[in-house]
Amino acid sequence: MAPTEVDLDRVYAFTVNLAKEAGKRILEGSAKRTSHAASIDNPNTKKNRVDLVTETDQAVEAYIKDSIAQTYPDFRFIGEESYAGGERVELTDEPTFIVDPIDGTTNFVHGLDFVCCSIGFTYKQEPVIGVIYNPFLDKLYSAQEGKGAWLNQTTRLPLTHPHPAPLASLGDAVIGVEWGSDRSKAIIEKKGKMYMRLAGDGKEIEGGVMAHSLRSIGSAALNYSYVAAGQLDLYFEIGCWSWDVCAGTVIAREAGGKVYGRGGKPWKPQDLMGHHFFVVRAIADAADGSETGEQAQDRIAKEFFAAAEDWDA
Ligand code: IPD
Ligand code: CA
Repeated sequence: MAPTEVDLDRVYAFTVNLAKEAGKRILEGSAKRTSHAASIDNPNTKKNRVDLVTETDQAVEAYIKDSIAQTYPDFRFIGEESYAGGERVELTDEPTFIVDPIDGTTNFVHGLDFVCCSIGFTYKQEPVIGVIYNPFLDKLYSAQEGKGAWLNQTTRLPLTHPHPAPLASLGDAVIGVEWGSDRSKAIIEKKGKMYMRLAGDGKEIEGGVMAHSLRSIGSAALNYSYVAAGQLDLYFEIGCWSWDVCAGTVIAREAGGKVYGRGGKPWKPQDLMGHHFFVVRAIADAADGSETGEQAQDRIAKEFFAAAEDWDA
């Protein structure tokens, strides 16, 4: 399909509407969950007992997939639950929707309202449209390449736009991290050590950064949204998938954030299909002209991966 055949404005409007409709279905699923509390929406597990999936995840993905097939029958589709069901779709240059019907499934099961639907769209392997909708908080984060990032389609992101906040050092940051679903000794030890260095006091802990704090909100897509908004300073995760981050990548970038590849290396399109993700919010240029916002982002990334040590080699 030639580039000129894809009307990105139309795809964007379609995607915003689709995410809102999906959000309604997530709320319906949640209402069912609370009225049948004993079954907690019958969560099933995938690779292990903490990798949860519910009937609502599957129903919402089926709804999104069908809606896309009706409107854009030629576009490709990559979705978390379709993948879990054995569907393997490579990322190509073709227009492709990359979807997580519910990001934050563990929160959904527990009734914690950091839950969203995340719909990304790539063209020529680059994420160009992203919509993330949290129906519990009625917050919709959206972006189309070159057109800015928005909260509820009216408030430009970051929330301080047009003046991103400064960030003097990693020690001043609130950092999004997650526990993920791989709880093997090797992984949990590495994560634990890294989180100890990020949170710990350097007077007693070797390499301790003593950052303002660490947060685990349980949704990669919402981590990206909060970085885009400027409410989280950065977010790091190894182990999530393209459907967790595709939409968020567009939203964070359009809000002036910078995404990185593995170990803080420059981002390449192939990184989307990997499992190493790192994003830093928009940062103000130094008032004295000594550093641009992007140089500050790179400096924070270096500080972060120095603290991460061997974790992301
Ligand atoms: C998970 C969430 C979680 C992250 C995991 C993801 P799910 O997605 O985004 O924050 O730590 O890596 O798999 O299972 O809620 O769709
Ligand atoms: Ca999911």
